[in-house]
Amino acid sequence: MEIVLSGIRSTGNLHLGNYLGAVQNFVKLQDDYKCYFFIADYHSLTTHPTPENLYKNVRQVLVEYLAAGIDPEKSTLYIQSDVPEVAELYLLLNMNAYLGELERTTSFKEKARKQPENVNAGLLTYPVLMAADIVIHHADKVPVGKDQEQNLEMARKFARRFNTMYKVEYFKEPQPFNFGKELIKIPGLDGTGKMGKSEGNGIFLADDENTIRKKIMRAVTDTGPTVPNSEMTEPVKNLFTILEIVSEKDTVNYFKEQYQNCTIRYGDLKKQLAEDVIKLIKPINERIKDIDKNNEYLAKVAKLGAEKARESASKTIKEVREIIGFKKFY
Ligand code: TRP
Repeated sequence: MEIVLSGIRSTGNLHLGNYLGAVQNFVKLQDDYKCYFFIADYHSLTTHPTPENLYKNVRQVLVEYLAAGIDPEKSTLYIQSDVPEVAELYLLLNMNAYLGELERTTSFKEKARKQPENVNAGLLTYPVLMAADIVIHHADKVPVGKDQEQNLEMARKFARRFNTMYKVEYFKEPQPFNFGKELIKIPGLDGTGKMGKSEGNGIFLADDENTIRKKIMRAVTDTGPTVPNSEMTEPVKNLFTILEIVSEKDTVNYFKEQYQNCTIRYGDLKKQLAEDVIKLIKPINERIKDIDKNNEYLAKVAKLGAEKARESASKTIKEVREIIGFKKFY
């Protein structure tokens, strides 16, 4: 069975865009692949979170992924820092990663620009840690968005370099995972661009019903069509895009027709959209609340994940140490 692996950023709550665009696909992969999903908490240290925030964020991400349908029995769901073997492989791969190539990566340049007061070595070697995450489980496929393609390319490069250096065919070169269909982009509620974390733009899986209603009722629209069959403005098009994903075909057609003959009332459209979004999110939201209360369950999940991940990781480290030439004197 092919191995799929993905690292999950440990900051920020999941929004509808994350869910429909990525997490829902992860859930479906679990039956057909051997999946590793981990919360990238070592990586998050590049921005120096406080100990309280680090813990809270990791916990929240764990709760939300479980609530969204990641099954800790089917998949290996773990917290990166529970697998110190990753840190060792990172150290070893760093010996073969060059300053020039690391400085040239887009994500490094971007982060260095965003946090000029904190351009630390962890930020520079972020792609090396990511490569260690991936190759430690010999992953075949990594589902990544556009922004992570270059990092994945670096992972292939580091894997290849290790093989060449030690004249082995040990590490696989991880390929980007293609979900087949075009990736859906979920637009935000503020009229432009995709759904993100900014205020007023996103609907979160942790939002309760009333919050979702309020957010959607406040979504940006326009003054309404005055000429039949006119082109939609971006904010209105965005609401229809979400409607098409969450609502029944009949509902979409009904409002499209109303738009085309200029009788549409955006308030009605929003009310319907809110109810359909709630229908989708509510079961997940309820599971978030349940799991959040259940420390015992979270402990069990984290322990199981750590055990499964370390089993695979420690085998790799043992083999890598042999290849490199570390020999025991005792
Ligand atoms: N860099 C990824 C992100 O920002 C997270 C990540 C860390 C990751 N390690 C990974 C993704 C390994 C895929 C594979 O989203």
